[in-house]
Amino acid sequence: MSASDSQLALLAPIQFGPYRLPNRFVMSAMTRNRSPREVPTPLNALYYAQRASAGLVISESTAISAQGLGWNDTPGIFTDEQVQAWRQVTDAVHARGGRMFLQMWHCGRNSHPLTQPGGQRPVGPSAILPHGTVRTREGRQPLQVPHEITLDEIPALIDQYRLAATRAMAAGFDGVEVHAANGYLLDQFLRDSSNVRTDAYGGSAENRCRLLFEVVSAVSAIWGRERVGVRLSPVSPSNYRLSDSDPQRLAATALAGLDALGVCYVAMVEGSSNALPPTHDLDYAALRGKFGGIYIANNAFTLDKGEAAVLQRRADMVAFGRLYIANPDLVERYARGASLNALDEANIYSPDHRGYTDYPFLGESSTH
Ligand SMILES: Cc1cc2nc3c(=O)[nH]c(=O)nc-3n(C[C@H](O)[C@H](O)[C@H](O)COP(=O)(O)O)c2cc1C
Repeated sequence: MSASDSQLALLAPIQFGPYRLPNRFVMSAMTRNRSPREVPTPLNALYYAQRASAGLVISESTAISAQGLGWNDTPGIFTDEQVQAWRQVTDAVHARGGRMFLQMWHCGRNSHPLTQPGGQRPVGPSAILPHGTVRTREGRQPLQVPHEITLDEIPALIDQYRLAATRAMAAGFDGVEVHAANGYLLDQFLRDSSNVRTDAYGGSAENRCRLLFEVVSAVSAIWGRERVGVRLSPVSPSNYRLSDSDPQRLAATALAGLDALGVCYVAMVEGSSNALPPTHDLDYAALRGKFGGIYIANNAFTLDKGEAAVLQRRADMVAFGRLYIANPDLVERYARGASLNALDEANIYSPDHRGYTDYPFLGESSTH
């Protein structure tokens, strides 16, 4: 691939809802555990601003409510202080010409009474013991059987999303991504290993998608559907070992419903994004055919693989995760055919700038 080739598909602009994005690079959502007391910091602002040349920056998972929080030092958007702090982040990204969406996160059952308001049990679709552990102020704890959300409680749950969407607007984001992937609340509703409900929110794929669609409708009423995206990971077991008996059908149902709701994009984790293998093989081309909006492919894409995916039109954009941790100027490196920085694995979740804002830009020398 020629370094100076201006025909590179990943570098072509794209109309994205109301925005004209300069390229097809998406910085994937990534939790970095560097927001003490759940409030974003100036260091977070610098980190995101460094990566603002991506066509689109997605924030790390951000708790929509105190109940939605899974572990400490991940940011929220449920207090005025958090909104003001996020405003500094979005201002910094905008000052560098970037666009940034907030990833709306409710952890559901992947939390702990030590983290929940009033020491309550975390909530989930069904009272099933989840696999895994979660970080708390008192160290790692096993997950517990969640409180099964009652039908009466669902409107208040949707209100949590509505309020967070309003706050995201006040915080200066350009849009929101509803997190329905990686084993968190909406994914717990989607997949039948975690959802055994017998009411309108369980059973058929349509029923298990119902909460997602209601949340997307509520959020779209605030943002406009053209500024709303959704993240899905139908066959990624996640750290919490979720699975579904028929993920092709589930994902097709989700995409058809999201198409009808007219959301701007779907960000698809293709395969498994953690150490476990995917639960199934999926036909992503068939799935893509169900959705007329922008399809963002993700998971283990190299730059060459991403280029091929956009060139072949099997994706409109590509989200890069780990490459974006290590390469703030990933777009420029790609355009120039430059080499990439290596990931500093040891400092992915360090509390400070190491492995966060100290990756060199092109022409700077490495500190790693
Ligand atoms: C450190 C780290 C944190 C992550 N946090 C999130 C997150 O907050 N929300 C999310 O949807 N995905 C999260 N992911 C998954 C990434 O967005 C992405 O799907 C995954 O890294 C695969 O893409 P990649 O191969 O380009 O890294 C995280 C991944 C990493 C490595």
